Amino acid sequence: MDQESSFVVVANRLPVDRVTTDAGSEWRRSPGGLVTALHPVLSGQKATWVGWTGAAADRHENDLEATEPFELDGIRIRPVPIFQGEIERYYEGFSNSSLWPLYHDAVESPVFKRRWWDEYRKVNKRFADAAAEVAGPGATVWVQDYQLQLVPAMLRAARPDLRIGFFLHIPFPPVELFMQLPRRADVLQGLLGADLVGFQRPLNAHNFLQLTRHVLGLRPRGDCVELPDGRLVFAGAFPISIDVAEMEKLAASDEVVQRAAKFRADLGKPKTIILGVDRLDYTKGIERRLKIFRELLAEGRLSVPDTVMVQVATPSRERIEQYRSLRVKVEREVGRINGEYGRVGVPAVHYLHQSYSRTDLAALYRAADVMTVTPLRDGMNLVAKEYVAARVDNAGTLVLSEFAGAAAELRQAFLCNPHDLDNVKDSMLRAIHTEGADAARRMRIMRRHLKTHDVQAWAESFLTALDRTGRTA
Ligand code: ADP
Ligand code: G6P
Repeated sequence: MDQESSFVVVANRLPVDRVTTDAGSEWRRSPGGLVTALHPVLSGQKATWVGWTGAAADRHENDLEATEPFELDGIRIRPVPIFQGEIERYYEGFSNSSLWPLYHDAVESPVFKRRWWDEYRKVNKRFADAAAEVAGPGATVWVQDYQLQLVPAMLRAARPDLRIGFFLHIPFPPVELFMQLPRRADVLQGLLGADLVGFQRPLNAHNFLQLTRHVLGLRPRGDCVELPDGRLVFAGAFPISIDVAEMEKLAASDEVVQRAAKFRADLGKPKTIILGVDRLDYTKGIERRLKIFRELLAEGRLSVPDTVMVQVATPSRERIEQYRSLRVKVEREVGRINGEYGRVGVPAVHYLHQSYSRTDLAALYRAADVMTVTPLRDGMNLVAKEYVAARVDNAGTLVLSEFAGAAAELRQAFLCNPHDLDNVKDSMLRAIHTEGADAARRMRIMRRHLKTHDVQAWAESFLTALDRTGRTA
């Protein structure tokens, strides 16, 4: 089979978007994130990315067509079809209504439904089968994120010759919370199919190893646990990052500089632009951030038009009830603030429920004076890192929640506890009023850190560790 790959990435989403053109429609590489990180690794060898297109598969479509691999920018793409009912139970159900809230400190109540589990397992099996099919003898397979936690064990059962890594992009909860999860033992067993399980933070790896003791009666030692068959599974922290060089280059481009100036002008050249850029997700703390802004306006500590807020809230998981009600709450709060504090032609909050191009995002980052990243819990938060990388002018300040993984690295941000509204207020005011020299010093230190901790370094450190575990096991 000439379609076999020596390196395979398995992720719920494919790194491609279907784009409509004059000639019909075609696939394009989606910008940013994992695909940028892995592109050099993937395109340098015979590699395949296994994932879902994001659209419901058509039952009438020829099966073969729906799974036919194709090549894009040197990467082989192997689509995994997911049907409408499966999207509801595997993606919206078990992945995003059970696991997502549970793994994020249960900031919204997780919902558990028995019928979701079967579908989660069934779809995980489909991903595992696809990976087993495209992986060559002894290949390395890297499985990504919470949607696919059963894939490592399924893959190992089918293909014991493979080296298997798993990386969890979101937090891994403490023992007490994880214990709520129905089928918790199966989920742990699924992950233990990997040779190396990577997390964002050391505490996440610790929680995982503790749980293998608590739930499965294993005896973890140091950074690994031995299974009854003698195989060793390693766990460790590999904080993900962004393509720093790419963001710096984009942010320094004439186009971005001009667009940033235009954004400022369009906003009425205020003294202070406060920016938020998040997926519209209840973990991101958007509602509280707006409330804090309203209180600061009410107390007269900030005023319009000197200060305006721009909140970009990317549409996300819109069929799930908790996301719908979040949207209603956020939009109600925006309306309230603008009603009370806006002026004709000068809203206090510019709310944008839209996706933006990389160029526009970079321009917004450069136009901002204060970036607010205040999630209640976040595995990493790449927006915070993108903002810092974009500030090639060393200007601007960052207000960052202690509950984002990024806070462990971006120590010169104005750190805050998003559960303590007065504390966030203080941090925001300090970030607004800090002197230029202090702001520049903070930004310089954070930028220096990111230069040596970019996404390429992340991928390399994980894959090197995976390679080593394979040899010592
Ligand atoms: P999460 O993975 O939970 O969405 P992150 O902050 O880690 O949060 O990553 C979000 C990614 O999505 C970033 O790369 C960011 O640039 C991108 N993004 C966020 N909002 C938008 C938007 N409105 N348009 C385009 N990309 C966006
Ligand atoms: C987070 C998750 C990713 C997910 C992304 C977007 O970053 O860790 O696995 O792909 O959010 O969410 P979506 O549900 O649209 O894929």
